[in-house]
Parts: sequence; structure tokens; C-alpha cells
Amino acid sequence: MNIEIKKSYDELSRFAALEIKKLIDEKPNCVLGLATGSTPIGLYKELVKLHKEGEIDFSKITTFNLDEYRGLDGDHNQSYRYFMDDNLFNHINIDKNNTFVPNGVAQDVDDECKKYEELMEEKGGVDIQVLGIGVNGHIGFNEPNKHLYMDTHIEDLTDETISSNLRFFSSREEMPTQAITMGIGSIMKAKRIILLISGKNKADIVAKLFSGKITTELPASILQIHNNCTVVLDEEAASLLNK
Ligand code: PGA
Repeated sequence: MNIEIKKSYDELSRFAALEIKKLIDEKPNCVLGLATGSTPIGLYKELVKLHKEGEIDFSKITTFNLDEYRGLDGDHNQSYRYFMDDNLFNHINIDKNNTFVPNGVAQDVDDECKKYEELMEEKGGVDIQVLGIGVNGHIGFNEPNKHLYMDTHIEDLTDETISSNLRFFSSREEMPTQAITMGIGSIMKAKRIILLISGKNKADIVAKLFSGKITTELPASILQIHNNCTVVLDEEAASLLNK
């Protein structure tokens, strides 16, 4: 893994945006793998800014999001489809028909997962996958467990994830307990991965991530064997790493 430590969240976001711009300059019809959560919001702001400055043309871009809550449709203001429209797609010249987020209300979930996987393949695979990390080490919604899944699948959210994301919902009852998520195999197939980690609350998991072990109990640890993965940390997230 390549490690980039940035002074601030803004610098981290800017760095990631410029890496994506570089890829789009080289390959205007590339496929981006995108993430939700608080971490990539700064990246999306930078991408919108670069687009408004005439620096990035998204007209030929395809995107695949990592995951979606089971039970929320795209109009729900906490769905990840809504998040992506609101934070990025509504502000750039992307064709929304080329933006894919798993359908959280699909009747046949197995079929939805299989089709999502096939579609990624059909579009040539993901060129850059953006990732965040949960405080428990999850990537996408691949939660710590005795085993991890290869492909897009339905996942039960852990109590830790539910507690961590509860802040976005008005009550625990409203918070979904499952999600459709790309699997570890789907993520590892990306040609390049950029893992963004910001803030003091991630410092513990960062220290564990760089302990040299690979374990399903820390799903992000598998990224250590990806041959083109860059971890971008701000100083707070990196604060417990040995210099
Ligand atoms: P966060 O979520 O960016 O809101 O911290 C990251 C994640 O759970 O993957």
C-alpha cells in the first residue's frame, strides 16, 4: 500500500480529486467506484469545483457505488442514491443513466446482486475505487466476521455500524439493519484503490490496519495485498502510526 499523509482533511480531499482528474484526463470514459459517508464529501466538493472551473468533463463517465441500505428507495433522504445525487451527480454533467447504486428495494435481492456484479464486468471493471473505512474496519458494508464474501451480496450490519450511522436517522427503528454491498472480491478487482481516512476517531483502526496482519476481523486489511492501493490519511487519522 502506498501511504500519503496530508496535513488536513481539505488537503486529503484535494489530493483525491486530483488523482481522479488525472485518470479522467487519460481515460475520459473511465469507470469510477464511489463511496458514501462523511469522508468523501470533501472529495465530491472538489470534483464539483473542478467541473465548474471547466477542468473535468463527466459526460462519458460511468460510476458504481459500493453499497445501499436495504429497505430504502432512492428518494429516501438517507439512501445512498440520494446522497450521491445531492453531493455530486446533481452538480456535474454526468449522465445519470450511467450512475449505478444497488437498488435497496429490489424484490429479488439475489438477482439484484448478481446483475450488479455482471454490470460492473460488462462496463469493463472499475478503474479507481474510492473507499472510506468504518471505525470497525469495514469497507463498503463488508463487516468484520469469520468469513468475507467475494461478490455483491446482502450483509447484516453490526451493532457498531448501526450505532455509528444512527446519527443520520431519527430513531433506531428507522435505521436499516441490512445493506446490499459490493463484496471484497468486487472491491479488489478495481485497477486502483484510494482509501481515504480522516479524523481522530479513525486513528485506532489505522494503527491496526498497518500492523502487518490480514484478517477477516478487519476487512480493510485485505487491501494490503492489492497491487495499486493508496491510503490517504490526514494527520489526525495517522496520529497513532509510528513515524
Ligand atoms: P464515514 O464512514 O466516512 O462516515 O466515517 C466510513 C465508512 O463507514 O465506511
